[in-house]
Amino acid sequence: MNIDNQLLHDDHSKDGHEDGDRACMSRRQFLLTGGALVAMATLPGMSLAAPLHALKAGYARTKIGSLSALKEGMPLEFSYPYADVHNVLVKLGAPAGGGVGPHKDVVAFNQQRTHMGGPLNGAYKAQHQVLGPCPLHLTTFDLTRHGMVVSGHATESLPQIVLEVQGDDIYATGVMGLIYGYAANTGRA
Ligand code: FES
Repeated sequence: MNIDNQLLHDDHSKDGHEDGDRACMSRRQFLLTGGALVAMATLPGMSLAAPLHALKAGYARTKIGSLSALKEGMPLEFSYPYADVHNVLVKLGAPAGGGVGPHKDVVAFNQQRTHMGGPLNGAYKAQHQVLGPCPLHLTTFDLTRHGMVVSGHATESLPQIVLEVQGDDIYATGVMGLIYGYAANTGRA
């Protein structure tokens, strides 16, 4: 059966269903749907991609430190948004994505690996502004670029703690990324 005949055959099938419950959409419906999507994607100025917004889970605004107490390259640990979620607050000395403070170089990240939850406590390398390598599978994360993977086994960036500054005080207001061990973030905005 050539394609035209196949399309005709499919067009005559009831509700797009083939024998029994084998298929829910006919080939014709599938091709038409796919064709429409391809056409939309190729129109000038149109894209299938929705505008990109970072997914942020909002949590209670909580003071986690102060700018004056931070020393470059010397991370401070804190818990947020729950007592058993351990994070690191660090002044990188270089502008960073999501960085706050006068030089946009103060960031905070969760310290459990996105891969299998390996601990990254004490793994900050000030010379390169990275966290890692993870002791389990050796992943290292770039803290100037939203915690993206530099090398190693993991495929997801480190969850970044969203920060705000008010005067000298540093507040955590949410989390970008899913903390290891949690099935979902709440309060996603
Ligand atoms: S748990 Fe750290 S890279 Fe796998």
